[in-house]
Amino acid sequence: MPRPIQAHINLNALESNLRVARRAAPSARIMAVIKADGYGHGLMRTAEALSAADGFALLDIQDAVQLREAGFRQTILLLEGFFDAQELPVVAQYDLACVIYNAQQIAMLDAYPGREKLDIWLKVNSGMNRLGFTPQQAVQALEQLRSHRAVRGITLVTHFANADEARGIAEPLARFNDFAAPYRVPRSLANSAALLRYPETHGDWVRPGLMLYGASPFAEVSAQQLGLQPAMTLRSRIIAVQDLRAGDEIGYGALFRAEHAMRVGIVACGYADGYPRQSGRVEPEAPGIHRPTPCGCAPNGTPLLVDGQTAQTLGRVSMDMLYADLSKLPQAGVGSRVVLWGEDMPIEEVARAAGTVSYELMCALTARVPVIV
Ligand SMILES: Cc1ncc(COP(=O)(O)O)c(C=O)c1O
Repeated sequence: MPRPIQAHINLNALESNLRVARRAAPSARIMAVIKADGYGHGLMRTAEALSAADGFALLDIQDAVQLREAGFRQTILLLEGFFDAQELPVVAQYDLACVIYNAQQIAMLDAYPGREKLDIWLKVNSGMNRLGFTPQQAVQALEQLRSHRAVRGITLVTHFANADEARGIAEPLARFNDFAAPYRVPRSLANSAALLRYPETHGDWVRPGLMLYGASPFAEVSAQQLGLQPAMTLRSRIIAVQDLRAGDEIGYGALFRAEHAMRVGIVACGYADGYPRQSGRVEPEAPGIHRPTPCGCAPNGTPLLVDGQTAQTLGRVSMDMLYADLSKLPQAGVGSRVVLWGEDMPIEEVARAAGTVSYELMCALTARVPVIV
């Protein structure tokens, strides 16, 4: 018997979530964001499941080449473009579109001796201050690129910092639109949150990531309410049970101390599998007991399912195991099935309890976890 942890990837869910994106943005083309190994779901299997997308966006040129060589003919966009002039022949050979966001990249294009023409996505910094030319700088960059001998087509692109938050997109959208208004050039603005919430951002290409994997970008709206299905379910089992007496402590740092007799299950899943370490319920400091600082562990524990029932983690997650509170689950024992996140256990709830975001949980899944497709 192998260790009982498995990540189940549901390809039908990916396909179905892509249809949700299409319905929400019917007039735009869809650039499926599959960076970070398809947000942890596996690059090639994700691309295949999302093959109805009009394009794929990722970071690594090797991944882009792999997609092309596997026969994907869609637009393939390098979200951080090229980093070195030596990449340009590969970009040209494999017909990869590149985001351009600094003057150094334009200089590399100027010096490129090849005769091929490239598709450029010019990044405009609309307020996030991560990548991109300010609208003022972008005027000049656009002029340079429009007449550039190595450029075939230009798309204007920006990215929102707060599309999933109450602040929304009004200011950055106005900044981007003020800049882009005089130009008849395709546009791409929307991540999942903007795609779902702000039709005025759809432009020519939307760039959903998170929603395709079945998670909600919004704190107050669930994936289910949005019609999204989780594509990744992390499962394991209970491999041991401890009967605690009042006063017994558990785990490294003894962060949890039983107030009364209780049962805890030991689940075969730890931070070396990608489970967030800072996620167990911590008992309040008891008088006279020294406890190390609980390093931001969520005080209410993190939800998980044991035999289909909701339970929560206790104490500190270790490398290979974590503790589940079985107080309310007398039937549960060794061999009980556990869902850490995914089907019936929304990854957003797990992320919230652990003080992180679903993106990080998906991407953190480690190579040692067997994947079942
Ligand atoms: C430039 C860019 N566009 C689109 C996306 C997709 O965003 P989301 O996963 O929130 O849909 C990302 C992801 O971070 C991104 O960096």
